[in-house]
Amino acid sequence: MTKDKIVKFEEIALERTFLAIKPDGVQRGLVGEIIRRYEEKGFTLVGLKFLKVSRELAEQHYDVHRERPFFSGLVEFITSGPVVAMVWEGEGVVAAARKIIGATNPLSAEPGTIRGDFGINIGRNLIHGSDAIETAQREISLWFKEEELVSWQPTLTPWLHE
Ligand code: RTP
Ligand code: MG
Repeated sequence: MTKDKIVKFEEIALERTFLAIKPDGVQRGLVGEIIRRYEEKGFTLVGLKFLKVSRELAEQHYDVHRERPFFSGLVEFITSGPVVAMVWEGEGVVAAARKIIGATNPLSAEPGTIRGDFGINIGRNLIHGSDAIETAQREISLWFKEEELVSWQPTLTPWLHE
């Protein structure tokens, strides 16, 4: 690899997104399977924690749905067991992570997506993913302190970027 072919990490248009494996994903033993999909795709893990979500955090996280009929059930569910909260980094990661997740209703989600492969019910759809760059920024700062995020350059970078 010639010198001018070396990938300048700081020149890659990096984005970050927030993903959370919901209590059903944890109970179903899918934590490793879900993380594997994002690792193998080539995205970079920069934040990870395992926690029982407080009602306050759940309500803030789903604040946009506060007036919806499913809101109380959704908060009940998200607080019912531990979740895996993550921040993933990479070019185009916000939209791509949602594609890997699949449609909100697992019965409509394409096979090959997480929800399409493992779910059958909208209230048990395994994983959350930020729906836009601004939403991701809000959710990352809601769930993680700045010092809990780790900036690092994977040695695989030149094998993933031209
Ligand atoms: P998420 O926020 O969890 O990543 O899911 P999403 O963007 O695909 O879907 P969204 O419209 O944001 O809905 C948030 C979560 O609320 C539950 N839901 N239940 N019973 C219902 O009609 C209904 N609709 C939505 C789902 O768990 C959905 O993921
Ligand atoms: Mg959503």
